[in-house]
Amino acid sequence: MDERARILALDRAHVWRPFTSHERHAEGDDLVVASAQGPWLVDLDGRRYFDATSAWWSQVLGFSHPRLVAALEAQARALPHVALAAATHAPAAELAAELVRVAPKGDRALTRVFYSDDGSTAVEVALKIAFQYAAQNDRRGDGRPARTRFLAFPGAYHGDTVGAMSVGAVDDFTEVFQPLLFRDHVRTHGQVPRDAAGWESLCDAFEATLERDGETVAALVVEPLILGANGMRFFAPALLRRLRRACDHAGVLLIADEVFTGFGRTGRMWACEHAGVVPDLLCTAKGLSGGLLPFAATLATDAVYEGFRGDMSRAFLHGHTFTGNPLGCAVALEVLRVMEEEGTLAAMVPQASLIADAFTQFAALDAVQNPRALGMVGAVDVGTGGYLDGQVGWRIHEEAKRRGVFLRPLGDVIYVVPPLNTTEADLHFLLDAIEESLVAVLG
Ligand SMILES: Cc1ncc(COP(=O)(O)O)c(C=O)c1O
Repeated sequence: MDERARILALDRAHVWRPFTSHERHAEGDDLVVASAQGPWLVDLDGRRYFDATSAWWSQVLGFSHPRLVAALEAQARALPHVALAAATHAPAAELAAELVRVAPKGDRALTRVFYSDDGSTAVEVALKIAFQYAAQNDRRGDGRPARTRFLAFPGAYHGDTVGAMSVGAVDDFTEVFQPLLFRDHVRTHGQVPRDAAGWESLCDAFEATLERDGETVAALVVEPLILGANGMRFFAPALLRRLRRACDHAGVLLIADEVFTGFGRTGRMWACEHAGVVPDLLCTAKGLSGGLLPFAATLATDAVYEGFRGDMSRAFLHGHTFTGNPLGCAVALEVLRVMEEEGTLAAMVPQASLIADAFTQFAALDAVQNPRALGMVGAVDVGTGGYLDGQVGWRIHEEAKRRGVFLRPLGDVIYVVPPLNTTEADLHFLLDAIEESLVAVLG
């Protein structure tokens, strides 16, 4: 048995894959990846594939960036872990200060950092902070908490833990869990809009709800500017500004889930910056640790933090074994240093234009619709199928794989989110291969 067959056999016998049916797991002719460098995955036979998904959107600086690997090694030797409760350490303290320094700036300041493990936990933390903040600072006349609800976007994805699912879309992925979710405490409106007018109406609806029932709402949760997992659905910065204003008017906290959009993905450090909006709570993961290891943070304003001042009965009694893990902190600090020293955000401007131009060009094919791009994100619709029933996207995936590109479509949405520091030559390779694959399937 060759090495590839040996690993696949073990995998099929013992691994339980995420987001994968048992049939698909048993039959799929999957990559067996041996190593990765920059945007490239290398399989066991030495064949290279450009990972257009950046490993579930995490590799902002590419795989195995030498400086991130060095920071990880040095920190592993010095201090791999310590409980961050009655003790602290330099990487946690320094990273918190750095995140505060680079956080969106405006009419309020994010000054506090709560660490956790991944995007889902960053969101769970934000939801729990918002709920407890309201419970202990905003009571009704009869002493009961006034603000016990959340507002959430239709089609949202905030992760797979129970709280994150509760503020996410009701779909094939979450339906079975509905009895467990706190959906009764979540208000949303309609479907994901398909055009600008639809987004305006959605915003109108949120404003009306906030105006009418705002005093019962603890927080509004939003993926700023791009609903990622729903199929890279974009909305205008002006709408985020309207929501910020409406939340303020109603005394409702704004939670920005920047797990996907943060760390430069949209061309600015944070998507909120396109709108000049500062949220009350900001969730970050994925790019935070350059995708080198699981790590996340939830940033909060001073006002929110002050709402927990007092004895243990008012403290935020939440944490994880690896909260503030020094390895994650050290790597995240190095991500910020590399981005600053290499001028990543400025350097990616031409690359972002290449993506925007290429995706506009793809729509010359009749079957390719709704080209959209922002920063290092490009997407098109190649059909109307959803995540589970879309067929066209997977046919394009197969064509792209033959050409050395790994795409993972979101149903019939084809998208790319390459590392921010992808070279022009590598980006041309990616975009040319996608164009050829689109023509092969749809031309
Ligand atoms: C906007 C957003 N929030 C939260 C999550 C959940 O992150 P994780 O998979 O790290 O738990 C994701 C994951 O894709 C995401 O896109």
